[in-house]
Amino acid sequence: PIERSLVLIKPDAVRRGLIGELLARFERKGLVVDALEMRTMDAALAAEHYADHVDKPFYPPLKEFMTGGPLVALVLSGDQVIEVVRAMLGATDGRKAAAGTIRGDFSLSNRENLVHASDSPESAARELALWFPKL
Ligand code: CMP
Repeated sequence: PIERSLVLIKPDAVRRGLIGELLARFERKGLVVDALEMRTMDAALAAEHYADHVDKPFYPPLKEFMTGGPLVALVLSGDQVIEVVRAMLGATDGRKAAAGTIRGDFSLSNRENLVHASDSPESAARELALWFPKL
């Protein structure tokens, strides 16, 4: 089925000049960009977006990282896009992500891993409502 996923090109990717590279990968795959906006997360949005992680020990540095510079928020659509994009990202830890995946090719970090994507239909619905309420 055609789905939508909320994808964030994180501040490390913006800083490194990888916006175009990452958008090109998604477009080449055949995914459609339904919305795209440059945004900077504040603490409140970070806490809502990462509601599942706010109590974890890695949350404070994650918040610093995610609020520390502009990011690109996008809505991608396509057949089974939620699963497809997660596969394109690779494992969370860039050191363990398979070569050929975005993190496998561009990241050596467990935190600065370039892209976020919704991990289930439920989180996609929640994250889309949070980031693009008018869509
Ligand atoms: P993301 O897909 O945005 O979802 C949660 C984020 O927390 C994850 O990508 C990483 O940026 C970060 N993260 C997850 N696990 C860890 C960890 N063990 N240590 C540091 N950062 C983590």
